[in-house]
Amino acid sequence: MAEIRVENLHKSFAAFTAVRDSTFTVPDGDFFCLLGPSGCGKTTTLRMIAGLELPTSGRILLGGEDVTFKRASQRDIAFVFQLFALYPHMNVRTNIAYPLRSQAMLRDDVSRRVDEAARILRITHLLDRSVSGLSSGDRQRVALGRAIVREPLAFLLDEPLGALDAEFRDVMCGELRALHDRLKATTVYVTHDQLEAMAMADTIALMNQGMIEQRGTPQDIYDRPALACAPSTSSCRTTRRCARKSSMPSTWAPRRSSPSTRRRARA
Ligand SMILES: Nc1ncnc2c1ncn2[C@@H]1O[C@H](COP(=O)(O)OP(=O)(O)O)[C@@H](O)[C@H]1O
Ligand SMILES: [Mg+2]
Repeated sequence: MAEIRVENLHKSFAAFTAVRDSTFTVPDGDFFCLLGPSGCGKTTTLRMIAGLELPTSGRILLGGEDVTFKRASQRDIAFVFQLFALYPHMNVRTNIAYPLRSQAMLRDDVSRRVDEAARILRITHLLDRSVSGLSSGDRQRVALGRAIVREPLAFLLDEPLGALDAEFRDVMCGELRALHDRLKATTVYVTHDQLEAMAMADTIALMNQGMIEQRGTPQDIYDRPALACAPSTSSCRTTRRCARKSSMPSTWAPRRSSPSTRRRARA
């Protein structure tokens, strides 16, 4: 696994700036949440880290190596998006194996990795099923399986639970964190859901209008919020479960942060 370092990252679409001078480090093995309201630049940041979007300026380092101009396929990063696409004509096993087959890995090695991923995700019983009849939760597990078989340097997850219903999101939220604790993979998890971030993250970066406004542990963010996501009840101090949703606010009302707060947010 590897550290991810983003330096002065900037992305403009014509006259519109989606990401401004973003600098942060995701330590090796960290579960790092990029948290912010819709449209603040989270997906654009993730797409640049993945190599799916070129920055207007700035640098991206993966394990100390400058990968800014490397293609996605050369970065050894796996990503899962909210609207994950599975191959409908393939069964679960073939879907999970796909990235390894395309690397021409030996059949026995592919089989071993797929079995291990399925065991971790508890979908062994589904391996020979068609993906078309699966529930959204199981489909999401298959998408995660396809990411973890690669044993990449890092995982990028963009609102991967967004398509699931509330109850199942809570379950998957716990499972994703448990999965991270087993794999110890450097993970950048994008969400607009404060509770998801508080429940899962080692580190949260609060993003607003293209800028990282604050960076800290869930406890830091809880105690000294620069944005008014301000979890306001003591019940969310234990932050390893999403089950506490009802006691925390879920709307965004960004409060202006001071320049010193913004400076502190930069790693
Ligand atoms: N390809 C694009 N062309 C023009 N504007 C874009 C493009 N991609 C994203 N944007 C804009 O950049 C802003 C940030 O988008 P995005 O990173 O998707 O936000 P988030 O993921 O936080 O909701 C939005 O205003 C969006 O409309
Ligand atoms: Mg997005």
